[in-house]
Amino acid sequence: MRSYKAKMVEPITLPSRERREEVLAEAGYNAFNIPAENVYVDLLTDSGTGTMSDAQWAALFRGDESYAGSESFHRLREAVEDVTGFSRVIPTHQGRGAENVLYGCLVEEGDVVLNNAHFDTTRAHIANQGGDPVDCPVEGARDPVRDAPFKGNFSADRARDVVDDVGAERVPVVVLTITNNSTAGQPVSAANVRETAAFAEEIDATFVIDACRFAENAHFVRRREEGYEDRTVADIAREQLSHADAIVMSGKKEALVNIGGFVAVRDADLFERAKQRAILYEGFPTYGGMSGRDIEAMAVGLREAVEPPYVEDRVEQVEELGRMLEERGVPIYRPVGGHAVYVDAGELLSHLPSEQFPGQALVCELYREGGVRGVELGSFAFPGADRLELVRLAIPRRTYGREHLEHVADAAAAVGERAPEVTGLEVVSEPPTPELRHFSAELAPV
Ligand code: F0G
Repeated sequence: MRSYKAKMVEPITLPSRERREEVLAEAGYNAFNIPAENVYVDLLTDSGTGTMSDAQWAALFRGDESYAGSESFHRLREAVEDVTGFSRVIPTHQGRGAENVLYGCLVEEGDVVLNNAHFDTTRAHIANQGGDPVDCPVEGARDPVRDAPFKGNFSADRARDVVDDVGAERVPVVVLTITNNSTAGQPVSAANVRETAAFAEEIDATFVIDACRFAENAHFVRRREEGYEDRTVADIAREQLSHADAIVMSGKKEALVNIGGFVAVRDADLFERAKQRAILYEGFPTYGGMSGRDIEAMAVGLREAVEPPYVEDRVEQVEELGRMLEERGVPIYRPVGGHAVYVDAGELLSHLPSEQFPGQALVCELYREGGVRGVELGSFAFPGADRLELVRLAIPRRTYGREHLEHVADAAAAVGERAPEVTGLEVVSEPPTPELRHFSAELAPV
């Protein structure tokens, strides 16, 4: 049962089939180029696209816009301390701002950073510092059908191999991304958090948790890990974060806001250095990259994220979409993750070779069929990488209802029925930076 109802609505329309065809061609068969007014159900991302609560909207009016020493900052600091246990906090404009501040202090030319799996912006910030981001997924993480409770875990064995190779002194940072966005939103167990923290300590590295989906992760721990079934999500979340030396947070996910983020650290010296860098790139450390009113909304949202009805509801809605797709014979990555269902386009459109971007072809077909927007995470987004051809259907928080999800599942099923007729795509123009090509490149049917 949903634990909220709508108090404000936003009209959406499904453009006609002819119009959708035109829009696709005008967008160069790239969903990022589609104007949002032409999208019916938008599952491009769960980042900043959710619905705020009435309490969050009310909090906006309390925003203290003082340049220094804002009251709003103090309320955020308190919320962060209550929810995460960290008292040294710097607000940033979003998650990648937090990454820039933190990794700019910790990573130098020639360093290696280990992560269960780097999210794109994390990878880019490490690389921007001259570092080498290395993923350490567990066995089976890239197997879309293997059923295991914590496929998002960090492999300390793999990490030890890397350290044996390069030397511990070259690995200043170990990151754990919970849940693991680059591995189909899979959770990380509490045991793995402890194990990763111990590994980081062993090599004298700073242990960072990318906490943007921390409540969803805590929910999975409660559901799947022995000994946690009677604990609250809030309690589990705090326990998980208690092992970290620092956290980076995109508030656009589980602080339930449209914009914002923060970095929080334990060490007083690192805090001072991070504040200096924040002044350079974000703003004075009591507002960072945010307005006072947005900080207020984030302080309220962060507390809401660990309240019992919210996260249960949230993860179950994602599971529900997974179930609907499976009932209609659409292949998905199993088990379903916390924020999104990842459709296995390589399986659904198995006649298309990876050079013809089966994932991107599916993204286009979902739009053509139902005005649904998802995002490709395969050969188009990650050129040259050996990856599954996935399409992520990320669900904005507290935003869509069952009818919308049924519409999405029906659209995917309709594409599945005519799968052999779906044509592949080729890139016709792309920006100079290959890592960013999926955001703006244009394609055409082969
Ligand atoms: N870390 C993770 C694990 C993320 O998923 C994201 C963003 C970031 C950091 C960066 O945060 O966008 O606030 O700067 N993920 C979004 C997504 C964009 O669609 O998955 P940001």
